[in-house]
Amino acid sequence: MLQVLVLGAAAGGGFPQWNSNNEASRRARAGDSMAPSCTQSSLAVSADGRHWVLLNASPDIRQQINDNEQLHPKEGVRHSPIAAVVLTNGDVDHVAGLLTLRESQPLAVYATGRVLEVLSNNSIFNVLNPDFVDRRPIAIGTAFEPATKDGQSCGLRIEPIAVPGKVALYLEDAGAGDNFGTVEEDTVGLVVSDLAGERLFYYLPGCAALPADLRDRLAGAPLVFFDGTLWRDDEMVVQKAGIKTGRRMGHMSMTGPNGTVAAFEALGVARKIFIHINNTNPVLLRDSAEHEAVAAAGWEVAYDGMEIVL
Ligand code: MLT
Ligand code: MN
Repeated sequence: MLQVLVLGAAAGGGFPQWNSNNEASRRARAGDSMAPSCTQSSLAVSADGRHWVLLNASPDIRQQINDNEQLHPKEGVRHSPIAAVVLTNGDVDHVAGLLTLRESQPLAVYATGRVLEVLSNNSIFNVLNPDFVDRRPIAIGTAFEPATKDGQSCGLRIEPIAVPGKVALYLEDAGAGDNFGTVEEDTVGLVVSDLAGERLFYYLPGCAALPADLRDRLAGAPLVFFDGTLWRDDEMVVQKAGIKTGRRMGHMSMTGPNGTVAAFEALGVARKIFIHINNTNPVLLRDSAEHEAVAAAGWEVAYDGMEIVL
């Protein structure tokens, strides 16, 4: 059995975002059930219901733990079912939660060499006491078995895969050309399965494009969580909520000829779920035409607390 729990369905900023006064955010703050609030981007996965591995550590992790009984401490004075965290990139919405996971609790943190370097270059992450928190490098194309700090397997197999992406916003090098100094290890996707590889899903919360090799890889997959940041590439500009397009931020959009909905049409993925959804994206509103359109195209929109058992 593989249990998957959506801790946070929203992109950076969450929904509603602290400074957003758009209609959708106002509806969310008012508790409108058709505009459900979402915390920032993270999944939890477990093969045994006892050891949970977080895929990304969002700034909202404290609330996410409190909201999900599976992650509550269960034994003794200090305990956590969270055995490990696997990072897909160094974005604030995926690493800031590590700062909450201090307090001398055994933990293993897995990330590419590049993302581990980002952590080691930021001394604030030294609050993760190395006596208790192991930092373990992972490599694209090499599957690993996440294990607790003391080496006990969590019963999962995870393979990091290459996905087109962008270096974290705070590391962009304006002098490094069109890609701001992005290297392959800045962003990965994850293929998560049980040890036998029988139950499996893909997690790609940030993806800038779908080249042929990635399409081939995803074809026929039983379940894919995919970058749902924007409905349309220029939506932040059009809504006067920002100055950047999705392309500029390293995110595919749902719509348009090169959009996600079109790109997945022929892939035969059994279950497709949008995650990492920006507060400007109208699919967050359950009664919007855009939500209806993605549903008609066979997509689900993740929500906090969504549970899937494979
Ligand atoms: C992103 O997904 O593009 C980043 O999380 C943006 C950010 O750092 O706010
Ligand atoms: Mn993000």
